[in-house]
Amino acid sequence: MKQKRKNLVILGSTGSIGQNTLEVVRRQSARFRVVGLAAGRNIWLLTSQVEEFQPEVVAVESESLALELRKKVGKQVKIVYGESGYQTVASWKKADLVVSAMTGIAGLKPTLAALNSGKDLALANKETMVVAGALIRKMASQTGSRIIPVDSEHSGVFQCLRGNNKKQVKKIYLTASGGPFFRVPLEELPKKTLAEALKHPRWKMGRKVTIDSATMMNKGLELIEARWLFNLRPEQLEVLIHPQSIVHALVEFVDGSILAQLSQTDMKIPIQYALSFPERWESPLPYLSLAEIGSLEFYPVEEKRYPLFNLARRVLEAGRSFPVVLNAANEVAVEAFLEEEINFGEIFQVVEYCLEAHRPRYLKTLEEILETDRITRELARQFLRKRGKER
Ligand SMILES: NC(=O)c1ccc[n+]([C@@H]2O[C@H](COP(=O)([O-])OP(=O)(O)OC[C@H]3O[C@@H](n4cnc5c(N)ncnc54)[C@H](OP(=O)(O)O)[C@@H]3O)[C@@H](O)[C@H]2O)c1
Repeated sequence: MKQKRKNLVILGSTGSIGQNTLEVVRRQSARFRVVGLAAGRNIWLLTSQVEEFQPEVVAVESESLALELRKKVGKQVKIVYGESGYQTVASWKKADLVVSAMTGIAGLKPTLAALNSGKDLALANKETMVVAGALIRKMASQTGSRIIPVDSEHSGVFQCLRGNNKKQVKKIYLTASGGPFFRVPLEELPKKTLAEALKHPRWKMGRKVTIDSATMMNKGLELIEARWLFNLRPEQLEVLIHPQSIVHALVEFVDGSILAQLSQTDMKIPIQYALSFPERWESPLPYLSLAEIGSLEFYPVEEKRYPLFNLARRVLEAGRSFPVVLNAANEVAVEAFLEEEINFGEIFQVVEYCLEAHRPRYLKTLEEILETDRITRELARQFLRKRGKER
C-alpha cells in the first residue's frame, strides 16, 4: 500500500540545519512534502527553495523582505512575515512535523506555536529548550506532540534509550570534539581571532553554534537541553571530550552497561532519523568503518580551557531563571564577537557579569521568560558599551 507523505514545515530553512534537512528531503522525496518554510533574511536562498519545493506558505523577518520575495516567486505561495508570520507557518494546518532550526531565542515562539497546535517537533534549536524547558515539556504533554531531538548528541541518547527503562539510567554522557582550541596553549586563548574560532575541526555549522563550540558553551547548553528532553537530574549529566566525533552519546545503566551511539560526523544522519522516526531508512552516506578509524579517544573536560562550560554547568545545577540569563548574555556576547567588537576571552566576561548581577526567581510563563531575556540583553549591551568606552 502506498504510504502517505509526511508534510513538513522547516523553521530556519536557509541555515545549516535547514539546508541539510532539505537535502534529506531531496533524497527521500517520495516520503515528504514541504508545506511551509521560514527564514530570516536570506531571500536569495529562500527563493530557490520556494521554486524547488513549492511550499504553501513562507515566512520571512519583515514586510519589506516579504515584498521582495513576492516579486521573485509570484503569487503561487502565501507569504507572511514577522512574529505572527512565523507562528502561522509553525502551526500550519497541513503540517505533520515541524523542524525547529532557527538560531537562538528567535525560535522560541514559533516552536511553542507548533507544540500548541499539536504538531510533532524535530528540535534542533537548543536555546529554546534551555530557556523554556519546563514550559515546552508541559505544552507537549498537554497536546500530545512528540519531541524528537535533532542535535547529534541528543539523538544519540534518544536512540540508546529506546526500548530501555529510563528509571534504570545512571548517567548520560554527551561527547564534545573540544573545538578548534582543544590543544592550544591556555595563555593564547583570550586573543584567538574570529577566523580561528570559526574553523571547527569536525562539524560544518552556522556561525553562532560554531563559536559556542569553540567556547564549549554549546556543550553547556546541550546539558541543559538534555536535562529537559530526558527529564534527568543535573548529576546524571556528563560531558566527555572525544576529538573524533564518532561516538555522539553514551548511556550508562544501573547494572554498569553502557550503550553508545556511533555514526559518521554528518548532521544528515540525526536529521534523517528525526524525520523517519520511529522507522529507520537506508542512508546514502558512506557507512562507518571502525577498522579504518582505528582508535577512539575520550578525555575529561579541562576546566581552565572552557570557563564558559563551567558557568553553564553551574547554571544547570542552580536552575530557576539562570538558564535564561546564561543564554541571553551569551547570545549578545557571541554577536559582539562575530562583529569583532570584543575578543574571544571577553565572551566569558559578559556572561559572568550578567549571571553575577542576576537575582534568580522561578519563571512560570512565557512573558516572564521573555522579560528576563530582555533585561539581560540590555545589561549585557550596557556592559559592552562601558567596555567600549574604556578602550
Ligand atoms: N548546524 C548544526 O550542525 C547544528 C547541530 C545541532 C544543533 N544546532 C542548532 O540548530 C539551530 C540552528 O543552527 P544552524 O547552524 O542551522 O544556524 P544557522 O546556519 O545560523 O541558521 C539559522 C537559521 O535561522 C534563521 N534565523 C536566524 N535568526 C533569525 C531570526 N531572528 N528570525 C527568524 N529567523 C532567524 C536564519 O535565517 P537567514 O539566514 O535567512 O537570516 C537561518 O535560516 C541552533 O539552535 C543550533 O544550536 C545546529
